[in-house]
Amino acid sequence: MQQTFKLRKFTPDDLQSVLQINRVCLPENYTDVFFIDLHQRFPETFIVAEEGGKIVGYVMCRIEVGLASLSLGGLIRKGHVVSIAVLPQGRRKGAAQALMNKAIEGMRYYKAKQCYLEVRVSNSAGVALYKKLGFEVSRTSNGYYSDNEDAYVMTKTL
Ligand code: ACO
Ligand code: ZN
Repeated sequence: MQQTFKLRKFTPDDLQSVLQINRVCLPENYTDVFFIDLHQRFPETFIVAEEGGKIVGYVMCRIEVGLASLSLGGLIRKGHVVSIAVLPQGRRKGAAQALMNKAIEGMRYYKAKQCYLEVRVSNSAGVALYKKLGFEVSRTSNGYYSDNEDAYVMTKTL
């Protein structure tokens, strides 16, 4: 199928569009300062998808240092997918998959060895997306969300 969207890095001019997509698509919302701070620290992993000159989706990540979840031992860099969303009218065209792959490229650039994220256990679209990309459920985080829903922590080795 012909790809109808284009990927590029986030710029501060995109902030209002991304905030809007975040509010429309997810109950987990953040301040503008939070978005700008992550962009300043990790520009390679903050990507937007554009369709017809309008932003239809974004992915925003953070690089963290933590214990390797496999029994490799030691501290490694991990890419944390903080938030990803695609507007309803832009869905099922491969945008999220493309955004994730581009963000993972950025994580590799930052020398991350693993990628992880939390997703609501009821979010079948999200879980299916991550499984398609090779993520596995590494554990369940009970009551992770503010409404007390559980999260799957899903991980992929990079
Ligand atoms: N049902 C079943 N599988 C799905 C669905 C769905 N509704 N959506 C995506 N998938 C799976 C499929 O395997 C799909 O491949 P296919 O279309 O060839 O079958 C694959 O994921 C890739 O789908 P994309 O088209 O790339 O996904 P899309 O651009 O539609 O975006 C997303 C998926 C981001 C989950 C979107 O539905 C959305 O914005 N949802 C609301 C926000 C959200 O839940 N974000 C994730 C929260 S977790 C976090 O941010 C870390
Ligand atoms: Zn998270």
